[in-house]
Amino acid sequence: MMAALTSELRWHRKDLLGIRELCADEITFVLDNADAFKQVGTRDVKKVPALRGKTVVNFFVEPSTRTRTSFELAAIRLSADVINISASTSSLTKGETLKDTAKILEANHADIIVLRHSSAGAAHFLGERLSASVINAGDGAHEHPTQALLDLYTIREKKGSIAGLHVVIVGDILFSRVARSNIFGLLKLGARVTLVGPTTLVPRAFEQLGVSISNDIDAVLPTADVVNLLRIQHERQGKEYFPGLGEYIRLFGLTKARAKLLKPECLIMHPGPINRGVEIDSELADGVQSVILDQVTNGLAVRMAVLYLCGGIGKR
Ligand code: NCD
Repeated sequence: MMAALTSELRWHRKDLLGIRELCADEITFVLDNADAFKQVGTRDVKKVPALRGKTVVNFFVEPSTRTRTSFELAAIRLSADVINISASTSSLTKGETLKDTAKILEANHADIIVLRHSSAGAAHFLGERLSASVINAGDGAHEHPTQALLDLYTIREKKGSIAGLHVVIVGDILFSRVARSNIFGLLKLGARVTLVGPTTLVPRAFEQLGVSISNDIDAVLPTADVVNLLRIQHERQGKEYFPGLGEYIRLFGLTKARAKLLKPECLIMHPGPINRGVEIDSELADGVQSVILDQVTNGLAVRMAVLYLCGGIGKR
């Protein structure tokens, strides 16, 4: 079972900062490791000693439930010691800089720092300055690499492989770190990607990444193998980007009527949190084509793999 885990030499990074800088081989290597860790989750004893004696700090300077819980559980299952720091409990609120706070964590012998931050580039900033491993758990509208890895893992698990699939990402692409990381990963693994949404939230500039763009969801859905729906990131939008939610649902929401356009084997994905009745109809979110809960389960295995691989390189 641990065959993938022994070939550590295929991984050389102390940090996971984004998908953009990974090659296809590295992405596949993480997914293969996640396979091994997923099996651990089916055992009676769901814990392995891989990170025993290491300290993982979950440093979340932006609200999160599922990602923080997932990283915390992943670290516990690897037998690491875990502490959680949130924006409101950190000295950042007293004016301390991000770098000083992180240096304090490192002086306390933190081995791995999992960072969520509202500024794009925050994880890169720390990764370059600390000898501890830094895992990006979402930085502004930039990248969310473990979300993309768990999405890729889920697609690969359900479809067998990713190359040649048509993946449609719908919604607020402009402000979505999930979209960016997914685009990089999907293209590297050979999928075809179409972005769908209002022109204001899906700028033409994205075409330069190698994706197609459409404002007509009904034209795109029939050829989709995967539909990934994104939340409107109101917290990041300084102004209104479309006339109103009713209009958004009418034009881009995955309603029951619209879902009839999908192939029966098309997967429906959502990174959460879901706004039921907005980007997706509530019944569809719980329906047979939805793999939303598989994404959550797989997120744990993928984050175990990432903590294990980076934690083995950091502070050597
Ligand atoms: C995403 C995020 O925070 O970027 N959610 C998550 O990681 N669970 C997407 C979102 O907030 O809509």
